[in-house]
Amino acid sequence: MRLQLSDGDPAGSSADLLCLGRFEGDEPAEWLAATPGAGDAGAGFKDLTLLRPGSGPARVLVVGLGDPAEFDPERARVVAALATREAGRIGATTIDWAVPDHPRAASIGAALTAGTVLGGYRFDRFKRNSGERPSAIATLSLLGAEDPGGFATTALIAAEAANRARDLQNLPANVADPGYMAARAAEIAAAHDRVEVEVLGPEELAREGMGGLLAVGAGSAKDPALIVLRYRGGGAAPMLGLIGKTVTFDTGGISLKPAASMAEMKMDMSGGAAVLEATGAIAELGLAVDLISVLPAVENMPGGAATRPGDVITQLNGLTVEVNNTDAEGRLILADALTWTARQGAERIVDVATLTGAVVVALGSTYAGLIANDDDWAAEVEAAGSVVGELAWRLPLHREYTEMTKGKVADLSNAGRKRKAGTLFAGAFLEQFTEGVCWAHLDIAGTAWDVGREYVGKGASGYGTRLLVELARRHAERAPAEPG
Ligand code: BES
Ligand code: MN
Ligand code: ZN
Repeated sequence: MRLQLSDGDPAGSSADLLCLGRFEGDEPAEWLAATPGAGDAGAGFKDLTLLRPGSGPARVLVVGLGDPAEFDPERARVVAALATREAGRIGATTIDWAVPDHPRAASIGAALTAGTVLGGYRFDRFKRNSGERPSAIATLSLLGAEDPGGFATTALIAAEAANRARDLQNLPANVADPGYMAARAAEIAAAHDRVEVEVLGPEELAREGMGGLLAVGAGSAKDPALIVLRYRGGGAAPMLGLIGKTVTFDTGGISLKPAASMAEMKMDMSGGAAVLEATGAIAELGLAVDLISVLPAVENMPGGAATRPGDVITQLNGLTVEVNNTDAEGRLILADALTWTARQGAERIVDVATLTGAVVVALGSTYAGLIANDDDWAAEVEAAGSVVGELAWRLPLHREYTEMTKGKVADLSNAGRKRKAGTLFAGAFLEQFTEGVCWAHLDIAGTAWDVGREYVGKGASGYGTRLLVELARRHAERAPAEPG
């Protein structure tokens, strides 16, 4: 989508659709007063009224913004998504949005941009005649937006990256396998001078000692891989390490999932999709940060060579783990990836993973679970997410959870026998592989899929992509101010 900033007058708009917000208590715009129905246009949040003025803009969508005191970037994303859908319905491909008055106009402009891009997302490439449907919005103009900080452009690039992550999530596991994810990483590296790709296959993984990744991949006909992107943006900020769980399909392994809870498990690579596409966006924005992005990629299958419940494996850092439940596979591959990324020199790590069903029970699709070993880093991750509408709620680490991870015959066990504190058990497990580096873990099992919010809706949400881009942007900007 093309984005334009303009100081044009809404009354002179020549776009297919002009979107005009209306707050409760606002009079309708004077130049519209003669248009039939303009006076009745609702101002309640999410009210939509489509008008055809006799002169000037061809079509005007009056968008109810509700109480001005409650209007914020999240509400802007929501109404922008509704407007995009309306544009699609009437075949409009160019939109002018008159940016509503707000003390933080630049944030509102960015949010309208994100909402337009995200709200226009569709995944229909496997449907007959998918090419014949009206395409998404080609041009969005923000009227009356001032954006010296480039927030709207950042929002555009991040939201388009999120939509690409949604494509990866939505792709079935017979297409998006570890090799496909590696090919996508290579594509991103080829598109950006300062990005390099490296893919470690089974031999390299064995040489490195990544027993977790190898154990989870053992039951599949597809080779596991550690997919690595390095971006050298320079700058003074501590090196960022992003890790994304990339289980391209999770059957549960020998601890096979019941059919009903297996159906959606093509989305178990959502963390990897977010990290991959966020990395591409960070490079596109040219952010001044050094970054290493790591995707442990694997398919969890119950083949003849699969890891059995009770098997003992050795992780990269030397800790042994008894695999009591082969369905608790995410932590095994993340453990190796965490150790490896820390040893590569990452100084601030975030991992993003569809890790536990328990986090869905606790937080639903509204917040991801956030577990961290550092308060400042946790606060930065949380703040980055709340700016872009990808919320995270901090959950605790505690010695007693760590105690629960102790194994009977090995150092650790990968799953508790009781269903106690499933998300926190997993967090405490992971923490033991971080080599003492600043680390935050986002459990996105609930937020990656079927969020139901207007601008992400059904299926893949791309959760994490925009958060990571915002985090990197803040991280890069803050750097010079930090002493040392
Ligand atoms: N991929 C699942 C977690 C998941 C659940 C993702 C629902 C998305 C939606 C993960 O690998 C898993 O199976 N976790 C188990 C762990 C248990 C066996 C300790 C779970 O949460 O049930
Ligand atoms: Mn599993
Ligand atoms: Zn899984």
